Amino acid sequence: MPIPAEVKIVEVGPRDGLQNEKAVVPAAVKIELIERLAAAGLTCIEAGSFVSPEWVPQMADTAEVLVQMHRQTGVRYPVLVPNLRGFEAAIAAGAREVAVFTAASETFCRKNINCSIAESFDRYAPVMSAAKSAGIEVRGYISCALTCPYEGDISPAAVAAVADRLFQIGCYEISLGDTIGAGTPIRVRNMLDAVSARVPVKRLAVHFHDTYGQALANVLVALEAGISVVDSSVAGLGGCPYAPGASGNLATEDLVYMLDGMHIRTGVDLDAVAAAGRFISAELRRPPVSKVNAALAGRAARAKMPGQATGT
Ligand code: HMG
Ligand code: MG
Repeated sequence: MPIPAEVKIVEVGPRDGLQNEKAVVPAAVKIELIERLAAAGLTCIEAGSFVSPEWVPQMADTAEVLVQMHRQTGVRYPVLVPNLRGFEAAIAAGAREVAVFTAASETFCRKNINCSIAESFDRYAPVMSAAKSAGIEVRGYISCALTCPYEGDISPAAVAAVADRLFQIGCYEISLGDTIGAGTPIRVRNMLDAVSARVPVKRLAVHFHDTYGQALANVLVALEAGISVVDSSVAGLGGCPYAPGASGNLATEDLVYMLDGMHIRTGVDLDAVAAAGRFISAELRRPPVSKVNAALAGRAARAKMPGQATGT
């Protein structure tokens, strides 16, 4: 497959990132982050989730975020919904796109949304029909597309079966999540071969956490397989509260730097997204988990020192 000339980045930091922070980040900070990400050129920004506040208190103010944030024309702001109740709350708060989420691992599905994989599809049937009536597009997520924190490695055939089902129920795009970031390029290739035999590759996205530092290598393999939608998270924020050992997502700054270097268009301004990463990291009182962000900050600091070379 030829490598795509253009990649859509789905920025998941305000949801996947902030859902995993110990402290609840105030709505005003979430809104400023989302607005900075849109100003940096990101056109799809996951703004939060409508899940149980008992399960994920960090996302309890998503309605407030959606109502108060300034929406930029041409930018989509999807939110996660685990059931019809979440869908209705999302629509009431002004969401115009949602994502449903299940898993390729029975144990993870149970730990994350308290039901089996089959039951998750029962929950999503009314969501899909309500979304269709309301003209709302639905994305589908599959967690544990490579490895499960409870069951170990997951077979490509199991992932392909769940992906096919999400596609059949009407998800316009299916994001394949390496929830605990344990995957390596060969396993990604095998999984994508199996999934793309059932679902058109143009409908697939990849979602890598970077626990073992494999995310960029895995993205390269996905691009070679024809994938042109990649999820990432500013400053490398992220994790899943129900996936022990999961660290942050692939950092958006690192992804943009690699794609820029390959002359693949994203529409994202690297310096602006790096500044957004430093903004949220300062709020969280720690440095961004992004080598590119650290390198850019170091270069800027050297440039300010008299008599210093500015090269990297
Ligand atoms: P449950 O306890 O089985 O649900 O949780 P229930 O239907 O028995 O309801 C229990 C209570 O929750 C009730 O309240 C419901 O009203 C309420 P009560 O009557 O006791 O006061 N409730 C809700 N409240 C608000 N919003 C809702 C909602 N639904 C029920 N939508 C449930 C089932 C799915 C709700 C729960 O397990 C849940 O919220 N799980 C979400 C977990 C989560 O958000 N995980 C992180 C996102 S997934 C992820 O990060 C992976 C991804 O990034 C890809 C990857 O990396 O793999 C996407
Ligand atoms: Mg994730």
